[in-house]
Amino acid sequence: MGGSENKRNGMTEVKEHFSEIPTMTSEPVHRYLTQLGIEWKGLGAAMELGCWLGASSVPLLMGLITAGYDKQFWAFDNWVANEQQVGMAREWGIEIQVGEALMPLYNKNVSKIYYRITTIFGMIPGTLVSYSGDPIEICILDAPKKNPVFINTIRALYKYWIPGVTILGLLDYKFYQRFEGKKREQLEAPARFIEDNKDSFELIREWENECPVFFKYIKPLKNI
Ligand SMILES: C[S@@+](CC[C@H](N)C(=O)[O-])C[C@H]1O[C@@H](n2cnc3c(N)ncnc32)[C@H](O)[C@@H]1O
Repeated sequence: MGGSENKRNGMTEVKEHFSEIPTMTSEPVHRYLTQLGIEWKGLGAAMELGCWLGASSVPLLMGLITAGYDKQFWAFDNWVANEQQVGMAREWGIEIQVGEALMPLYNKNVSKIYYRITTIFGMIPGTLVSYSGDPIEICILDAPKKNPVFINTIRALYKYWIPGVTILGLLDYKFYQRFEGKKREQLEAPARFIEDNKDSFELIREWENECPVFFKYIKPLKNI
């Protein structure tokens, strides 16, 4: 066990973490991901876009295997370390270099939990052409937060969502709230998308001091 400040969430929260995987998401969100996995209904695949080293994939997978998940888990990322990531990993005592390919570290972390992982390396949304097209039950987005990447990601995936079933986790949903002006406007893309399609979603989980918000997809999108 160790303590670490959750830097991305920009908060003062000091958290205890049971995992040794450097994370950009917090313990309450990890617990919720596990819960979501446990509630998997067997109707579609689970995926995460923006996995980094696996800190959010692992709790989701832990829940999924409890539920008997037997499909591919789809993991998308470009897995190239930048300066911010190098600093964050160092807080966990993990040394990576700027430009380092991180997919091997991701694979090492998630393969302890589940073996049917399809890792798709490269830039979203282009890499989404590799997706099989199977129905998606759990769709976690932690990479695309600005347009056009965000909306093109949604356009590539929403046809595989299941009305009344699919859970959409937007892990950067409230990130815009820390900024003003142009940057805030750019980061509002996920919130604007939900607002433009509010009849299609039901809010299922949010936290006061966390960026992520989870929705259930209810019915076809109107503004896409
Ligand atoms: C916020 S981090 C993910 C953190 C991780 N989910 C966690 O909880 O620790 C976002 C990740 O998405 C990747 N990423 C950002 N934009 C991307 C894009 N357009 N295509 C692929 N990967 C991208 C980054 O390199 C990074 O690994």
